[in-house]
Amino acid sequence: MEPHQILSFLLFALLPLGELSDTNKQKKDTAFEIYKKLFEVKRKDQINALNNLIELNDVNQQYKIIDIMLKGLFKVLEDSRAILIAAGIQPDGPFPEDEKIKDAYSHTVENSAFFGDVVLRFPKIVHHYFDRNSNWNNLIRWGIGFCNLSGIFNDGPHSQLLALMSQELGISEKSPDYRNPFKTDNMEFLSNADAFQKALREEEKRRRKEEKRKEIRKGPRITRSRSEL
Ligand SMILES: *[C@@H]1O[C@H](CO)[C@@H](O)[C@H](O)[C@H]1NC(C)=O
Repeated sequence: MEPHQILSFLLFALLPLGELSDTNKQKKDTAFEIYKKLFEVKRKDQINALNNLIELNDVNQQYKIIDIMLKGLFKVLEDSRAILIAAGIQPDGPFPEDEKIKDAYSHTVENSAFFGDVVLRFPKIVHHYFDRNSNWNNLIRWGIGFCNLSGIFNDGPHSQLLALMSQELGISEKSPDYRNPFKTDNMEFLSNADAFQKALREEEKRRRKEEKRKEIRKGPRITRSRSEL
């Protein structure tokens, strides 16, 4: 049995007996309540993983890791969106029962939340990749909307996350008192650290060059130079 199955099993065992004789609607609500607990567990893992990334203290590595991570994250979000839309799932409707749809649902809310964590902790790096990608922009707008209606973010520790990430991403207008809550405890923000600034500038330059090279390579080509082989 997988850990999350064990957990839902335990949670079921903890529920008052009266709940067992309930209607279909209540059963679905129970499934939703259980999912919310699993979501919290998942969030803790995600935030731990991000803290490890912060502690890496190496902006080049952080760029590389975040680049790969975001590609994976948005692929999952895209696939999940396709599944949820094909199944006609409404975020404020009953919690899905089908395993595949349930996975798409949880991938959507978990990856959207995680992306919020990443953009708030690494705004510069995320903007570097995100700002020129309209597909990602569409996907996360949809994801935030889905999360907002799901009810999972209505209370608890993540109630501010959707609004904060929307403002940081420029999806909703920044309110005058908008403040990124992570702005002090992260390497990426230490604007006075010369070495860091230098590394960041070099990494950005290197990346721009790399992208230019890629664009050139995408163009029509008849011969390949030896060095490319
Ligand atoms: C969530 O939905 C409410 C109600 O529709 C809206 O006022 C709010 O701006 C939404 N929040 C985000 C972050 O999209």
